[in-house]
Amino acid sequence: MPAGKKILIGISGSIAAYKICSLVRDLVRSGAEVQVVLTPSAAQFVTPLTLSTLSGRPVYTHLVKNEEGEWVNHVALGLWADLIIIAPCTAHTLASMAHGHCDHLLLATVLSARCPVAFAPAMDHDMYLHPATSANIQTLLERGYHMIPTEHGELASGLVGEGRMAEPETLLAWIREFLIGEPLWEGSRVLITAGPTREALDPVRYISNRSSGRMGIALAEVLADRGAHVELVYGPGDQVCRHPGVRVHRVETAVQMQEVCRGLSDACQLLIFAAAVADYRPALVSTNKIKKTEGPLTLSLVPNPDLLSEAGHHKNPGQRVVGFALESNNEEENALTKLKAKKADMIVLNSLNQEGGAMDAESMSVRILTPDHATLDIPSSPKRQLAESMVHAMIRLWGRPQNGGWSALVILFLVFFGLSQPTRVSAQELNCQLTINPGRVGGADQQFYANMQQALTTFVNGQKWTEDVFSFQERINCSINIMLDERITGNQFKATVQIQSSRPVYNSSYSTVLFNYTDPDWIFEFNEFQPMEFNPNQHSSNLLALLAFYANIVVGLDYNTFGKESGMVYLRRAQQIVLNAQNAVEIGWRQNQSLRNRYWLAELLNNPAYKPFHASLYEYHRQGLDQMYKPERIIEARRKMLGALEKLHDVNRSKPGGMLIPLYLKGKLPEIVGFCSKALPAEKAKVVEQLVAMDPINQAEYNRINAAGTGSGGIGGGGAGGGK
Ligand code: CTP
Repeated sequence: MPAGKKILIGISGSIAAYKICSLVRDLVRSGAEVQVVLTPSAAQFVTPLTLSTLSGRPVYTHLVKNEEGEWVNHVALGLWADLIIIAPCTAHTLASMAHGHCDHLLLATVLSARCPVAFAPAMDHDMYLHPATSANIQTLLERGYHMIPTEHGELASGLVGEGRMAEPETLLAWIREFLIGEPLWEGSRVLITAGPTREALDPVRYISNRSSGRMGIALAEVLADRGAHVELVYGPGDQVCRHPGVRVHRVETAVQMQEVCRGLSDACQLLIFAAAVADYRPALVSTNKIKKTEGPLTLSLVPNPDLLSEAGHHKNPGQRVVGFALESNNEEENALTKLKAKKADMIVLNSLNQEGGAMDAESMSVRILTPDHATLDIPSSPKRQLAESMVHAMIRLWGRPQNGGWSALVILFLVFFGLSQPTRVSAQELNCQLTINPGRVGGADQQFYANMQQALTTFVNGQKWTEDVFSFQERINCSINIMLDERITGNQFKATVQIQSSRPVYNSSYSTVLFNYTDPDWIFEFNEFQPMEFNPNQHSSNLLALLAFYANIVVGLDYNTFGKESGMVYLRRAQQIVLNAQNAVEIGWRQNQSLRNRYWLAELLNNPAYKPFHASLYEYHRQGLDQMYKPERIIEARRKMLGALEKLHDVNRSKPGGMLIPLYLKGKLPEIVGFCSKALPAEKAKVVEQLVAMDPINQAEYNRINAAGTGSGGIGGGGAGGGK
């Protein structure tokens, strides 16, 4: 739940206003601060008194607060909020927002807001479907407003149809997801130790340290926000954690902390040891106050149990253990030693040498270390933000936590979530499944083809195609299937090659094919026992040049979807490889002048007219496809994908006849037909026209889009919702 977030709820005059009371209550319960603003007509449906009681804050309706003429500062309200939600949003309020009117406080606040604004329409069927309303919605979406889709159902008029406001639970889920992301930790249990421990010397004195417990509490809140049930074992600090998803166990000493942890840890999938546990405790605790003497006092101390080490050495199969290392010298070396000795899965290194470095600091920078030498630096940030980055890093490294452990599904694109640097791993960026299919030419020479497959696989996967550093989850999957059509001479072959690449869809369990191309006329030599040397600038082997060319395209296209423009550098390299191969005096592509396709491709890749091609891929995948699985985002996601296709069409118009776009569309054909089939009739007609213009060969396939009915959901995704 969005603890600590500031949400302004604007209510306009619809019968659905009464439903907002429970939304306000649930948001406040979950720790959010809620400010309600009513339009004058909304006050007739729901009273300001009810809402101010539920929100615990005064409710505003007018620009002037009272008869004394006290002004309500709408600019300050807009600045205060992390998110503004207009729910219910009537047709009139929607139109006013679209046209920039500001004749009451809510409209003035929206107009001066700097935070994201979302609206949940609520109106009758015909009003909702009226072209004027559609145009207003379109205007707001184009300005970056977010729409919480309506539902189909019973309306205030008694009719059943579109325009019914989303239910409060849907609104709450939308807000949570918008502000804090997916509840990825729902159903998982987490144990966190936090704060100092206090080891008594006598009834009034103790040994302790400066730890405040802020870091552990921030982690507890971030994880609970994402749905985890957190057991916080907190030493004697004075911070407070009131999050409903966190159960706090107060302890004083290391031994007490150990006992509580032992009782809880088995049921938890994630154990985080953020407490600054005293390493030693007095051997004897004096029952009486220790008296001052003339001479020096020597204290005898015994070691405390090491909680992290105990957990690390007795880990259940499904558990992950995270520790901290506070270091003042040889920081990384010491932290790695702790990681190993305590059998942790992650150590968060916090250096005392950083500016303001102290255990009770408000902000700090950390370096995350893991046993497989992945490191991630998180720059100095307040502890709450730091906790968010750490939690992202855990998901990134280990995937989604589940009851029995961690799922294999690994979440991509966490750079998108604001991590400062990708996790550095030495994983090879291309994970290529290369097969040699000897077909008719195979005969008895099985071993020869097996060796060829082995050698080419080693070549493709062994090259460093990019200088960029991928995290291991970003590894690009591709397959290259070389079907041998003819053995021209002993070592010379003619082949048809199928190249396909895909990447997992963010936050989902399925992959999307980015590239699927059949290249019919490869002619190459393979010399079984000759070493395959490859220099990207001097191609002596036609075969390696071909493989390198496609490897670069695959890396470029796939990588491109990780960020705007990011694939360009590899695509340029692909072009260079082709140019070099063309110029090679030996067996280069020059020999195969008829194979114009590769030259064209290479030329297109580097043509400035194709720059928007890469931008549109980004829009299609990141803003469209990756959002499709969320029912409340389907409409917006589909709009983005259609917009991206329109951009591709523009590119195609400015540079007609190129192969790059048809090649891309060919790879995406089933997906495009699938999602466009759910589009609105006007959208369908337009997109089919664009697709046919770009790729006339597939006209019949694209015509299937027009034939399919309009609907909603999944890769299809369309339809609108409804409002009472
Ligand atoms: N820790 C623990 N129990 C202890 C000591 C430490 O659980 N008795 C955990 C801390 O919560 C932290 C990690 O171990 O996650 C490392 O703590 P730190 O104080 O940096 O290291 P120590 O092992 O105490 O070693 P040193 O003080 O010598 O650096």
